[in-house]
Amino acid sequence: MATSDLLPIYRNAREWIMEAGENLRQSIKTNIRVMYKTSIKNLVTDKDREIEQFFIERIRQKYPGHQILAEEGVYKEEIKNPYKEWVWIIDPIDGTTNFVHQKCNFCVSVALYYQGKPQLGLVYDPVVDELFYAIKGHGAYLNDQPLDKLEQRPIEEAVIGINSLWLTPNRYFDYRPLQALVGAVRGSRSLGSAALELSYVASGRLDAYFALSLSPWDFGAGVFIAQEAGALASTITNQPIPIFEKTSIFIARPGLHQSIVDQFLSTSPAFQNHATANQQNGHYKRD
Ligand code: 2AM
Ligand code: CA
Repeated sequence: MATSDLLPIYRNAREWIMEAGENLRQSIKTNIRVMYKTSIKNLVTDKDREIEQFFIERIRQKYPGHQILAEEGVYKEEIKNPYKEWVWIIDPIDGTTNFVHQKCNFCVSVALYYQGKPQLGLVYDPVVDELFYAIKGHGAYLNDQPLDKLEQRPIEEAVIGINSLWLTPNRYFDYRPLQALVGAVRGSRSLGSAALELSYVASGRLDAYFALSLSPWDFGAGVFIAQEAGALASTITNQPIPIFEKTSIFIARPGLHQSIVDQFLSTSPAFQNHATANQQNGHYKRD
């Protein structure tokens, strides 16, 4: 498909994500119904499901041939062959814990892939009214301003995004190289929304971001936006990201990505020996 053909699809996606954002902006003034998904730490709200349903209805009406992969599983059909199809990847609320507790630092994330290749990525933070987006062949933007191409920055001047959980013993990786890295950089931050943290790498607010267990809806849009701004993206073992699987993510400015791999990641046998977490072949299955 020519990149010009993507623009009408982008315009629809933009209209939908802004409408979803307005809904969420209004909802933080009201009582939100909160439920536990798998545990007391894993929340879902009536808004997650409502916004997901909204996207499904719009996409099915406009693009009936397209497949949909969305976090809350409102849409039940499984995608048999995502690497051959048009696939929308939707997270109705990324950062649900923030949505419930902070009423800020959450976003809506929408991506469109064709045959496993990103075509569109949109991440909208409704509280501060920031729309990060990228269109294949058109680059990356924040609120319609093109993002500057990311340039190199040395490790000691870097501010990185990482959840502090990954600096303690965990079931995925040896935490010690990441502890050493946090000691070597200028600062570390944890926002609690992967899609926003990836968008912050795209816009230079963060220089790198690490996550050890993300799903396609958490990273599908944000990774593409950051890559379009010049970031390098891989798994934590410096492998290509398996887009339709649960995986680790390591994304950073050019130059910084290689420095961190060389000095902190590839030197650790524990990182080398680990495959991506819960890696599955074929179509995506929920936990
Ligand atoms: P979510 O809010 O859409 O669930 C929090 O550090 C970030 O990790 C959020 O982007 C959150 O997405 C994501 N995440 C992925 N798996 C998670 C899980 N099992 N529990 C909580 N957050 C998870
Ligand atoms: Ca979510």
